[in-house]
Amino acid sequence: QQVEPFDYVIFGATGDLTMRKLLPALYNRLRMGQIPDDARIIGTARTDIDRDGYVARAKEALERFIPDDVRSPVLVDRFLGLLHYVTLDGTKADSEWSALSSILSEAPADRIRVYYFATAPQLYGRICENLHSHNLVSPHSRVVLEKPIGTDMATATAINDGVGQYFPENQVYRIDHYLGKETVQNVLALRFANPIMNAVWSAEQIESVQITAAETVGVEGRASYYDTSGAMRDMIQNHLLQVLCLVAMEAPDSLEADTVRNAKLAVLNALRPITDETVASETVRAQYTAGVVGGQSVPGYLEELGQPSNTETYAAVRAWVDTPRWKGVPFYIRTAKRSARKVSEIVIRFRAAPTALFGATPPGNRLVIRIQPNEGVELQLNVKNPALDAYTLRTADLDTTIRMEGGLPFPDSYERLLLDAVRGNPVLFIRRDEVEAAWRWAEPVLKAWSENQVPMQTYSAGSYGPEKSAALLADKGDKWHEDME
Ligand code: BG6
Repeated sequence: QQVEPFDYVIFGATGDLTMRKLLPALYNRLRMGQIPDDARIIGTARTDIDRDGYVARAKEALERFIPDDVRSPVLVDRFLGLLHYVTLDGTKADSEWSALSSILSEAPADRIRVYYFATAPQLYGRICENLHSHNLVSPHSRVVLEKPIGTDMATATAINDGVGQYFPENQVYRIDHYLGKETVQNVLALRFANPIMNAVWSAEQIESVQITAAETVGVEGRASYYDTSGAMRDMIQNHLLQVLCLVAMEAPDSLEADTVRNAKLAVLNALRPITDETVASETVRAQYTAGVVGGQSVPGYLEELGQPSNTETYAAVRAWVDTPRWKGVPFYIRTAKRSARKVSEIVIRFRAAPTALFGATPPGNRLVIRIQPNEGVELQLNVKNPALDAYTLRTADLDTTIRMEGGLPFPDSYERLLLDAVRGNPVLFIRRDEVEAAWRWAEPVLKAWSENQVPMQTYSAGSYGPEKSAALLADKGDKWHEDME
């Protein structure tokens, strides 16, 4: 279904995110017939090029990032026809604001206007101030903020205050692309549309939860950003805590944005604080050393960086949600660069059946929600071993891959999110209090790590992580998914 006509103004329009994600996502939505002909995409950046120069770059990006079978010359031309470009330094009050203003004023005053900030977060406040002082903030404007929202509570507050001075919270859309992933959204369907799941979704039946996001890539060309961030800030504070919220939250009364966000916030607020006393037993951090990934030799993190660093490329945490539902259930969260394989998944371990019928206690059932790749759900059951007359058991998997109709690939997570901002539906965006609650939990860990209270481990590129990470689970008799039978 088509959205209303809109103007999408992208700050940082020549950058990697715009070229790799935003323009391809908008192209795909045009291809699906969701973007009206009179919509406009207005790129702004400091790069001194004209519209033709920008169109040429955008065309190259589409050729690179849109597969041939869904890239038609007619559609590409139609998409490029929506593009405009203004050379503008968003942080300077005396930059070319009048050029942007004159393009925007060609549209009716009540047109939906989305300002997308794909720039350094510390600039968000200044860009907002300039938008305001040039009269470009209308009641129909909203602003989309890319992560990271700060590197700790103080910087997050500064960014949110800077933006909040000019845009009320209901016009602020903080993007977390994990929430745009189909299988992440599926957690709610799986839990609340299936009584057989809903009925067992608590400490009574669940022994532990694992949430993993592992990647085979290293820090690519982003070392200068990544080294100021690290695995905890880059993945856990945002993406993985959001996934944890969906797994752990109480049923919301509706799918209305604030209802869902209140339920997630309650989980974040119930996370048990990690303190100087517990940080060494509840967290593991590590850096990759040289190794082999996908048959290719790759250098270690420090070699890539060319200097010493105290930044982790692997982080694992044992988290606890202190609510009656989750009493005593550990949530193991981990993320890694240069891991053995690319996988994002949730693994729920159910308690073993209290029966002596079959001799040894059968293992507890296991539910795996595959976020990516190979999106799907897998439930491991105990069945009679059919090869043997004796009544012994083995495990069998109920495995379903979730596919789009016609076998098409899943839309990229940005696609839905970009148009949700036009539709004015913030349900998959993060509210300010969620960001703050996540920092409140993450900050003490980061502080303890920066003080080296938890030694930095190493792991070879292409492995599943440092040996020490197994210890996080071992004292509860648990194992990481790849080590389970
Ligand atoms: C981004 C991180 O937010 O998520 C990257 O900054 C990471 O470092 C990426 O590679 C992972 O996203 P996905 O969708 O590939 O799991």
